[in-house]
Amino acid sequence: MKFNITLLPGDGIGPEVVGEAVRVLDVIASKFGHIFNYNERLMGGCSIDKYGSSLTDETLADCKASDAVLLGAVGGPKWDDPNAKDRPERGLLALRKGLGVFANLRPVKVHPALIDSSPLKPEKLKDVDILVVRELTGGLYFGQPKMREMKDGRERAVDTLEYYDYEICRVMELAFNLARGRKKKVTSVDKANVLESSRLWRQLATQVGRDNPDVELEHMLVDTAAMKLITGPAWMDVIVTENMFGDILTDEASVLAGSMGMLPSASLSEAGVGLSHDTRMGLYEPIHGSAPDIAGKGIANPIGTILSCALLLRYSLKLEAEAMSIENAVGETITAGARTADIGGKLTTRQMTDEIIKHI
Ligand code: IPM
Ligand code: MG
Repeated sequence: MKFNITLLPGDGIGPEVVGEAVRVLDVIASKFGHIFNYNERLMGGCSIDKYGSSLTDETLADCKASDAVLLGAVGGPKWDDPNAKDRPERGLLALRKGLGVFANLRPVKVHPALIDSSPLKPEKLKDVDILVVRELTGGLYFGQPKMREMKDGRERAVDTLEYYDYEICRVMELAFNLARGRKKKVTSVDKANVLESSRLWRQLATQVGRDNPDVELEHMLVDTAAMKLITGPAWMDVIVTENMFGDILTDEASVLAGSMGMLPSASLSEAGVGLSHDTRMGLYEPIHGSAPDIAGKGIANPIGTILSCALLLRYSLKLEAEAMSIENAVGETITAGARTADIGGKLTTRQMTDEIIKHI
């Protein structure tokens, strides 16, 4: 089969890890007899430098026209001026919104051979297999008003935590569907003791829970969830939560896996999650950032991006066997002892990828 994939390598280590992940995709293409056409575009700081905009209309249109988008990372000290008109992160948010990818799936699994790379006690990490479903196009990141002003001689800033019922219901339904294929447990994370938006969240979670009686629903306050992720992560299955809580909890959860460099993500639209059938749009990216401190050195861990390719194959291209062959290859490579610097080894980005390719 033939597919069009837009590549947005971005900034920092983004181009290094995306370049290696494409080599893996090419091996999959030749092994399984597919054709992947890549369309590479600028997004983030590199796009500000070239076009004066972190995400151009043309790039967004190209992404929409493709079967899936693979992204590296955006941002870096060069574009960190708080007074700048545009920022790399704005491009990323505009891309998520523009593609309508409302659900961000962040699986957190601990490879047994990497248990010692985590600062947590080994017994806590046994059997950890969590899927965080983060709402991605609403909440504090996008709510209006969002502004700065002078009021009564004081400088004032406002962000708004806003959710519509449909935004909560669609991500909640997806979480239940995903839980059905796993341990059948959803932990809905909110701050319903304080926030009105969280009270709506909890009400709708309860409602969706009633429609899905085969899946166990538990409500948890976000502060408790932050603690439970460290004290009892093996008890969690699917966690579903609003945008900003999900941002924070997934960085915390990445510590369980030994390194942020290990973790992939998939951001899906209604089409991508099977609610409609006209396209299968998805945006795939590692959860790590652009890591300016190691950019250009060729030592970044490519696994988060390579596993993101597996999710791309699974969710957007519907190629399950191909997805599994990448995931198995990564698992076997780690078992065999291959390690980049972040997980205590010496392999370069390229050498790590070579090892993974040998296992495909
Ligand atoms: C993430 C990142 C982004 C976010 C930043 C880069 C805007 O932290 O994907 O988790 O906050 O969503
Ligand atoms: Mg984040």
